[in-house]
Amino acid sequence: MKIAVIGTGYVGLVVGACFAETGNDVICVDKDAAKVRMLRRGRIPIYEPGLEELVRRNRQEKRLTFTTRLPEAVRKSEVIFIAVGTPTGEDGSADLQHVLTAATEIARAMNGYRVIVDKSTVPAGTSELVREVIRRETTHPFSVVSNPEFLKQGAAVEDFLKPDRVVIGATDERGARIMTELYQPFTRTGAPIMVMDCASAELAKYAANAMLATRISFMNEVAMVCDRFGADVDQVRRAVASDRRIGAAFLFPGVGYGGSCFPKDVKAILKFSADRKYRFRILEAVESVNEAQKLRLLEKLDRHFGKSLEGKRIGMWGLAFKPRTDDMREAPAIPIIRGLLARGARVQAFDPEARDVAKRIFGGKVTYSRSAYDAVKGVDALLVVTEWNEFREPDFRKIKRLMRAPVIFDGRNIFNPQQIRELGFTYGSIGRP
Ligand SMILES: NC(=O)c1ccc[n+]([C@@H]2O[C@H](COP(=O)([O-])OP(=O)(O)OC[C@H]3O[C@@H](n4cnc5c(N)ncnc54)[C@H](O)[C@@H]3O)[C@@H](O)[C@H]2O)c1
Repeated sequence: MKIAVIGTGYVGLVVGACFAETGNDVICVDKDAAKVRMLRRGRIPIYEPGLEELVRRNRQEKRLTFTTRLPEAVRKSEVIFIAVGTPTGEDGSADLQHVLTAATEIARAMNGYRVIVDKSTVPAGTSELVREVIRRETTHPFSVVSNPEFLKQGAAVEDFLKPDRVVIGATDERGARIMTELYQPFTRTGAPIMVMDCASAELAKYAANAMLATRISFMNEVAMVCDRFGADVDQVRRAVASDRRIGAAFLFPGVGYGGSCFPKDVKAILKFSADRKYRFRILEAVESVNEAQKLRLLEKLDRHFGKSLEGKRIGMWGLAFKPRTDDMREAPAIPIIRGLLARGARVQAFDPEARDVAKRIFGGKVTYSRSAYDAVKGVDALLVVTEWNEFREPDFRKIKRLMRAPVIFDGRNIFNPQQIRELGFTYGSIGRP
């Protein structure tokens, strides 16, 4: 099939490359000319495991091309995915301006029947808005389909190639049939393709993210209660997770969730529920627990050093909002660094992938170390903020030699408290004695 993908970010680029991989001809469109130039030179603007190779192979096979020219891409394609950003608007709602602009531009370029697919995460009712926008601009026939994306950054290619399910919201047979055909190669192993009405498809995405965010905030509160009783949240978690009704995923306490999705999607669901006169009380709590959780490591530092960190040097492991990505959107590292700087500390941070992104946020206010060991040189304490695999089994003796004082606050519970205290460290983590 001939496909266009509008928006070549974390989602659009993965979607485009994966559809090319199954033999489709894909044109990826972005209005960011610098990004398109980079992709045309074979360079990938983001870090995502497996993506570079996938893009290279499909470019070589001439199944994957990049352009800034949306009308041309639309004229050459039968199915057009909208995968642009839907950031949080001023009132907390999902800002649909990029989606609706893309829809308008698509409609103006159409020269025959097209399937227009909403891949971006959008509130219930958006497909109807998109339909209206297109109807105003063209007399050509079209189907609007809602196809929310469930991939997770850090394993995006894998998730797309082997989805748990594919959700398709459609109002007409033709659109639903074309989409089902397109996804067939990814669902051979039995993952269901679920065809439903558009509002349900749109809501399914928000409900899934809200549920995952809820599990995280729930466990963060369990950790707080563990602290009060000297209980160990790791033991509690293992016992809870082995219940088949509950399962093990997303039950790890930490420094709060971040990223481009959970925070904004929780905000959006709160807003569109409120707009329909429903107050989503659980998610209000999920959000406020998460805001507080991002400050836990700072509270631990305050208790250890007192309120001022003047003259202190603090090492940080991890900047990205989670491992295997360079994305720092809404990363807990951001309020943590701001808090450290406000207390007068000097920060030296290491992240395997997010260094350049962090530079764009903090410029020269932070020292960006070249390795994990570099980041602990001469520091008065180390904070573990992102649980990259390479941080899990470090040489603690070397770390102790390099640090000015052997103090570690582990926001991801990656170290063994007993082992690390035996080595002479002062050690604090989340919800463990
Ligand atoms: N990042 C994730 O893990 C993830 C997962 C599932 C769903 N989503 C959803 O997918 C959508 C995209 O997210 P993302 O993280 O890929 O965003 P992103 O910001 O990384 O990428 C969006 C891209 O769209 C481009 N763009 C915007 N308007 C355009 C236009 N009119 N024409 C051409 N290009 C345009 C931007 O230049 C940018 O490159 C969001 O709705 C998000 O909620 C994201």
